[in-house]
Amino acid sequence: MATCSAPAKVYLFGEHAVVYGEPAIACAVELRTHVSVKPSRNTSLVSGGFRGRVEKNPYVYEALKSFQQRVPLKSGVSIRIVSDVPSGAGIGSSAALTVALLSALSIEFGAGFSLSEITEMAHGVERSVQGAASPTDTFVSTMGGVVLMPMREKLKCIHCGIVIGDTCTPASSRKTATMVSRVAGLKKAYPEIVDPIISAIGRLSPLGVSLLEKGDYSGVGSLMNINHGLLESLGVGTPLLSSLVYAARDAGAFGAKITGAGGGGCMVALCDDSTGVAAGIEGAGGRAYMVDVAREGVREE
Ligand code: MEV
Repeated sequence: MATCSAPAKVYLFGEHAVVYGEPAIACAVELRTHVSVKPSRNTSLVSGGFRGRVEKNPYVYEALKSFQQRVPLKSGVSIRIVSDVPSGAGIGSSAALTVALLSALSIEFGAGFSLSEITEMAHGVERSVQGAASPTDTFVSTMGGVVLMPMREKLKCIHCGIVIGDTCTPASSRKTATMVSRVAGLKKAYPEIVDPIISAIGRLSPLGVSLLEKGDYSGVGSLMNINHGLLESLGVGTPLLSSLVYAARDAGAFGAKITGAGGGGCMVALCDDSTGVAAGIEGAGGRAYMVDVAREGVREE
């Protein structure tokens, strides 16, 4: 049996703008999905309370199909998933699952895939299931750490608290597509307003890189607050997301913003006092996760 785990991720800067080629900074976080695989007579899936056919989970089904196109299997596979990552919350749960599954299959069946092969295959799986997907989630989940996208450049690690606030409003892949097309609609209707907003979001990442290098988290937080305002202006905020963002700031966070597509899903805060910020987020009606940077991406357990 082989077991691999892979982390979720947050965007510190640049979601939505990255769709238009602007830079973004993403960070792998220590919420992991563990996947175990072993040869078996039949192919089956156990995940949470579910026990049954792999077809029930499109990511598992597509990942297995993609693996078998490269490495035909002589037996079935029994797959077990255990995850800390809230599903459909916009922090890369499907990427973590796909990356961990492909890595476990590669180890168990001797395929010897490299990390870049895992990244590319996992991105292909996400594209097949979602129709379109950015390479950020699968790259960051595979490689770990703090990453400047689309350059795929690893940045210095973050040494302060990170708290994720989940609105517990599903941000499914369809919702991501809806949010992306909402921004596209605004951009088409008002290019002279929206294009500069997208470029302004893009300019935050290089500034963020130099502040992160210096460990100036108060500066990074100020830029995150600006990024939140710009995302709001693109129409991807919700009242609950903003309540959690303001609660985190009131509790002393350096900065807080939406992470991911918005329209539900999660926000993220950087802070010194994770416990206080988490309490603020929970008090405002969110579910808080205090996390560290996942320096390691996918790994064998
Ligand atoms: C979604 O998590 C992030 C977006 O920028 C879309 C993408 O990059 O694919 C909104």
